[in-house]
Amino acid sequence: MASLGHEVVGIDVDEHRIAELAAGRPPFFEPGFEEILQASLASGLLRFSTDFADAADARVHFLAVGTPQIAGSNAADLRYVNSATEALLPHLAPGSLVAGKSTVPVGTAARLDAMVTVAQPEAQLAWNPEFLREGFAVADTLTPDRFVYGVRSGDDGITATAMLDEVYAGAIEAGTPRLVTDFATAELVKVSANAFLATKISFINAMSEIAEATGADVTALADAIGHDTRIGRRFLNAGVGFGGGCLPKDIRAFQARADELGVGESLAFLADVDATNLRQRERVVRLTTTAVGGDLTGARIAILGLAFKPDSDDVRDSPALDVARRLRAAGATVVATDPEAIENSRRLNPDLEYVADARTAITGSDAVILLTEWSEYRQLDPVDLVGLPAAAVLIDGRNAVEPATWRDAGWSYVGMGRS
Ligand code: UDX
Repeated sequence: MASLGHEVVGIDVDEHRIAELAAGRPPFFEPGFEEILQASLASGLLRFSTDFADAADARVHFLAVGTPQIAGSNAADLRYVNSATEALLPHLAPGSLVAGKSTVPVGTAARLDAMVTVAQPEAQLAWNPEFLREGFAVADTLTPDRFVYGVRSGDDGITATAMLDEVYAGAIEAGTPRLVTDFATAELVKVSANAFLATKISFINAMSEIAEATGADVTALADAIGHDTRIGRRFLNAGVGFGGGCLPKDIRAFQARADELGVGESLAFLADVDATNLRQRERVVRLTTTAVGGDLTGARIAILGLAFKPDSDDVRDSPALDVARRLRAAGATVVATDPEAIENSRRLNPDLEYVADARTAITGSDAVILLTEWSEYRQLDPVDLVGLPAAAVLIDGRNAVEPATWRDAGWSYVGMGRS
């Protein structure tokens, strides 16, 4: 927002995080973020605070806190959304707009809007979901593929729309599609988009299981069906499945909300999507067990990649870290590496062995598993590496490298549904 020319104050209750951001140090790894943070601080348009009173002058308040899964339940935890809203209410000026970005159960925006009205009758709320992908967060924020504004009906909605159009003026003028809806539709756009993406991934992983049983090749299959523009090739990469801070918890919270609304049957298929996804982790463990001769006890397994996806240090619900844990629990010695996610992984799993690079991890291993398709792992030279492991076995949990290249170099290659 500051890089677009707006005057911005970023508020959080986490003092350490605010101090780091104010010093220009990002609290996570995200390509391009450090540069834009520092440039925005230097421009004088961006500052940080832990005091909600610093929000009092703002015309638009973006609410961007997390909605994690509640432990022991499928539902979303709304405590951060509620407490951030409550802390903001006393500071709302007449004519100001609260714009919700968090991914919330449908119905939340209407409830928060009622709270806003009680606190400041001349303020209002809009729901403006966020579709950014980790690894592309900066570009997705500055040049999104669409805007969705969930607003009140009538004149208030027209005012809220004009205010958001002003915030996003550059992208709107450049022709970015902008859809204005009611609150419920805007909330549902976000969760249904993530449910669709999750379904697409689990669909191709189900095809990958069938391919494994029949000797077919899921990558060729994805290429072939992906040429149909109604289907499209993106999000058809089979492998160890989806993880992260969004897709897994969003499909669960969506089911929980549908159950509450009495329409649980409509989303019953998402339970299968989730189960198919989680099955891929077990499948990688099974393929690894077979590859090392049937018993993981004492086997030395190299893991390449711990983040839930490349270009991120995020290990929330990471399939890679989950597989590492399962192998360790089955008695294997796990030696893991990742270009950015070792620190976060170590915090959650101090019992795994972490090394700085792929060559060190591979040395002496009985099997190598590629679990996050960082470009540096895709580009590994199998000829150069073949002398390092105790047994040259690659389990490609992301179908990320060319099987023939690795086989020709003397490796035993095991993909996920690749003939
Ligand atoms: C997702 C949505 O894409 C984004 O629009 C939303 O705002 C937040 O949630 P993100 O969590 O950053 O973004 O990751 P995404 O790129 O969607 O990948 C999610 C997971 O799916 C990753 O673990 C990735 O490895 C996996 N994936 C993705 C596959 O297994 N196969 C694919 O073909 C694509």
